[in-house]
Amino acid sequence: MLRAGDLVGFPTETVYGLGADALNPAALRQIYAVKGRPPDNPLILHLASPEQLDLVAREVGAIADILIHRFWPGPLTLVLAKSPAVPALATGGLDTVAVRMPDHRVALALIRAAHTPLAAPSANRSGRPSPTTARHVFDDLQGCIPLILDAGPTAIGVESTVLDVTASPPVLLRPGGIPREVLEATIGPIQLPQDSATRRRSPGTRYRHYSPRAGLRLLDPEQPHTLRSELATALQHGQRVGCLLHRLELSDVPPDVLVTRIPECLAAYAHALFSALRAFDAAAVDLILVEGVPEKGLGAAIMDRLRRAAAPVDRQL
Ligand code: TXA
Ligand code: MG
Repeated sequence: MLRAGDLVGFPTETVYGLGADALNPAALRQIYAVKGRPPDNPLILHLASPEQLDLVAREVGAIADILIHRFWPGPLTLVLAKSPAVPALATGGLDTVAVRMPDHRVALALIRAAHTPLAAPSANRSGRPSPTTARHVFDDLQGCIPLILDAGPTAIGVESTVLDVTASPPVLLRPGGIPREVLEATIGPIQLPQDSATRRRSPGTRYRHYSPRAGLRLLDPEQPHTLRSELATALQHGQRVGCLLHRLELSDVPPDVLVTRIPECLAAYAHALFSALRAFDAAAVDLILVEGVPEKGLGAAIMDRLRRAAAPVDRQL
């Protein structure tokens, strides 16, 4: 199917991807159509081995070499100088290309069988929470793609870290499965994307994203009373409320309030996050109150996704 230009949903260690032959412009066009993805938001190319880098990148460089050696296969996407062989559609017209080697045997077997790198965004409809099970992919894309490979829930639950190594020092374009601190322990300081120039470099970071249909409000774990007051206000307005809690306690849960508790560990939070948001949507809640986490380690990726999910509709971030 991939060689014929069709799209295939497949598991990775982070989230499910929507794969297409990265070197086939017609297949790439279908990704944007099926997801409803803005055409200036470039894709990540997935490789079965570092040897395939020659097919897609013009230059790798010393820092990237170190990172590849240490973190591939794994949830680290590197932005590199693009090879002319990669269609402009895969990179949103940029002269760089994003690549990673997923740490999942089904993903690697699929790329090998396709004999081509696979361009694969997360397999959700644009703007929705990323899929961490094959069922999530089916819920968003049924009828639009011919095949989904089901290998159970993904291990990590948030997407890969995206690092631009064409800049010096490298720029963290998206926090993800490998924490910034872990990368810095290997290659030294990394720049944070604080300015609009970085946003232009990584168009995907501009949009509201990962959003459930219900409204989402982030709670500061240091302000435990806000859970009670937000809840009281919502219930006064007759809203159904879902709470995603980590450490905050809620006694005497009123009827019409759903509570999902995540064990006190960031890896468990990342693993459960998107699935919990989708479950609240399935239960038709109007408002989701979500407890935030400290922005250390995986906490940075979790808070990035929660902030985008909580952004007002149509607001460009
Ligand atoms: O974990 C993941 O990375 C998942 C799985 C399926 O591998 N994929 C994923 O893809 O999250 P997607 O399309 O949802 O996110 C791609 C991100 C976007 O933020 C995009 O802007 C950025 O990578 N990106 C892609 N190419 C880029 C480039 N050339 N320069 C800067 N940012 C780029
Ligand atoms: Mg995505």
